[in-house]
Amino acid sequence: MSPNASGWRSVEIVLKGARRMRVTGKIAEIRQWTAEARAAGKGIGLVPTMGALHVGHASLIDAARRRCGFVVVSLFVNPTQFGPGEDFDNYPRPFERDLALCEQHGVDVVFAPSAAEMYPRENLSWVTVSGITEHLCGRSRPNHFRGVTTVCTKLFNIVGCDVAFFGQKDAQQCVVIRRMVADLNMPLEILVCPTVREADGLAVSSRNQYLSAQQRKDAPIIYEALKKGREMIEAGETDPARVRERIEAVMRRVPALQIEYISLVDPETLEDVKRIGRAVLIAVAARLGPARLIDNIVVDSGR
Ligand code: PAJ
Repeated sequence: MSPNASGWRSVEIVLKGARRMRVTGKIAEIRQWTAEARAAGKGIGLVPTMGALHVGHASLIDAARRRCGFVVVSLFVNPTQFGPGEDFDNYPRPFERDLALCEQHGVDVVFAPSAAEMYPRENLSWVTVSGITEHLCGRSRPNHFRGVTTVCTKLFNIVGCDVAFFGQKDAQQCVVIRRMVADLNMPLEILVCPTVREADGLAVSSRNQYLSAQQRKDAPIIYEALKKGREMIEAGETDPARVRERIEAVMRRVPALQIEYISLVDPETLEDVKRIGRAVLIAVAARLGPARLIDNIVVDSGR
């Protein structure tokens, strides 16, 4: 299958049973299909993705399948959330494999628009969430969240979903999207699903494929370090600086890892915590060779 000028041409994939998965790149078509599903009384679930699907994405699709009668997956490598020099051009786009995964997981419709379909003219309208987008990843990726919130707003408006599914893997993205939906009274629910990890603890990510064999062996140190932080907090540590130092010491065991941030923040405001109270989000970002890796855990000490 190949893209035409305005996106992927629409196809129907007929499965063995009665179910069939439809694929389109056209906004008008997806609107019509979701309107029909709604008229048939089905709840609409959307899983927004940039493709290069893996078990993490599949877990969101499965959650959507359990919750909603009609499941839409969007595949769109959104140019407006990449900064200059980031990996937009190199981002993997294994379209046929993505369709196969969607089909296996019972997706009803795949929406895979072209950039021209999503941004047919110079984009003058942006959705900006202030404050919480300036911490953590916002520091090194200044316009990233503006691109994410704008494309998600567009996708929510196009699909008209009742529920949209996001992964805890991108903790800040979840907080920002939830806040946008609440602040702007968007008529949908945001559901956050747990981070899916490899057997050695590395958070599954489309970007892991940029890693060399050695880097892939080293990468699980990030989760090791997060677990060490959790242990300290569970053992009663309340000073975020001490936890941070320990996490950093563990991560330094891999000298090739360039730490961007290690932050202990409030899970809702994303403000640095002065003293660890009930729940704390430990979020880290680091570069390993060509890949920028992020991971996080929420520790609820029950205090
Ligand atoms: P993408 O990186 O493709 O991720 C799509 C969704 O899958 C996100 O909600 C992300 O948090 C989730 N995800 C990725 N890896 C995961 C893992 N290991 N476990 C659980 N969930 C995981 O995030 C984006 O795309 C884009 O910013 C998008 C929201 C689509 C807007 O363009």
